[in-house]
Formats: sequence, structure tokens, C-alpha cells
Amino acid sequence: MQNLKLGVLVSGSGTNLQSIIDSIESGYLQAEVVVVISSKEGAYALERAKRHNIPAYAVERRNFDSQEKYEDEIIELLKKHRVELVVLAGFVKVLSPHFVRAFPNRIMNIHPALIPSFCGKGFYGKKVHEAVINYGAKITGVTVHFVDEGTDTGPIILQKAVPVEDDDTPETLAARVLEEEHRVYPEAIKLYSEGRLEIRGRRVLIK
Ligand code: GRF
Repeated sequence: MQNLKLGVLVSGSGTNLQSIIDSIESGYLQAEVVVVISSKEGAYALERAKRHNIPAYAVERRNFDSQEKYEDEIIELLKKHRVELVVLAGFVKVLSPHFVRAFPNRIMNIHPALIPSFCGKGFYGKKVHEAVINYGAKITGVTVHFVDEGTDTGPIILQKAVPVEDDDTPETLAARVLEEEHRVYPEAIKLYSEGRLEIRGRRVLIK
């Protein structure tokens, strides 16, 4: 069976990218990361890609005079590398319906909370964990979902719970959630690669 071609979009350290690369190299995931695209020059995720001889590009919004032209550049790169599944991994830029329509039900995202809690506009990175702690939630977690035209609103593929400890800081909680992310994302992509995800309206059934 052909390896599923992944295009991974990043903005920062790339620990989720690394966990996907590691799961491929260990034989767990039958896929290939064919391209990595960062929204920021100098993102450490680009170093990780280069270390594994994966074509890596920085495409910065400020170099384009419209959101659509910016997204078209990314779409073109993904198509050039014949990407079959777009994986958002710490990608901080909002992608418009224009981008989403180029890859219908073929874009995944990971969110460091249990959607529909602590998600949507402005809820990313450390802000998510601050909100969880400030609210006094006892359980948070990780969500992997398909990307639709909303923000963090697409059909949910997998979720895993992560406990919040009384003495947690946003940093300690982020670290615990990130560990779970590194397990859940490869699992979700594996299910997709095996054709085991069936989207029925808002729901994703695992065959
Ligand atoms: C993390 O906050 C993670 O929860 C979210 O993106 C951020 C950076 O991840 N998915 P990474 O280390 O760049 O993969």
C-alpha cells in the first residue's frame, strides 16, 4: 500500500512534527512527510525537517499582499508535493475557507484542550492552559479534529483526557498535555491512513 503523503504546517518548535516523523521511522505510521511549511522563518520545526531531509519552506504572511495570495502559495507547495493529508501542527495562522476548500476533509488539526471547551478565536498555546487553570477545571485534554471553515469546529476524530493538578502552572499543564498530543496525533493519522475514519455529519466514526 502506498504511503500516505503528509504536508505538515508548523509555526514553532515542531514537537508534534517530530512525534509524527518518529512514528513513521519506527514503522508505526505508514506515511511520509513530503513537505513541511512554516509560517515563520527560523522556526525550530524547520531544523527538524532538514535533519530528516524533508523539503522545508517558510512562507510568511507579510510577504504577500493578501490572505488569499498567501494561502495560494501554501496550496501550490502542497499540491506540488502531491500532499494527500494536510496536518496542522502548532500552525498559528488562521486559514480561510479558501484554503479549507482546496483540501475538503483532508486537513487535520490538534488542539490542546477538549473541544468544545477552551477553544475558538484567541485560544491557542499557553492561553488555553491559563484559561483551564483559571476556570478551575479538573480535567483537560487533547482533541484531534478535521478542519472545517470555522475555528476549532470541525468533526472530532480523537480526544484524550489529561488531569489538571492543583499546583499546575500553565507551563506544567502544557507539558503534560503536549506529551498526550505526541501520542494522539500519530494515532489519528494512522486511522486516516488505514481508511478507518468515516465522517457522518458532525461525527467521525472509527471503523
Ligand atoms: C502546542 O501548544 C500544541 O498544543 C499546539 O501547538 C503548540 C506547539 O506545538 N498543537 P509544536 O511543539 O510546535 O508541535
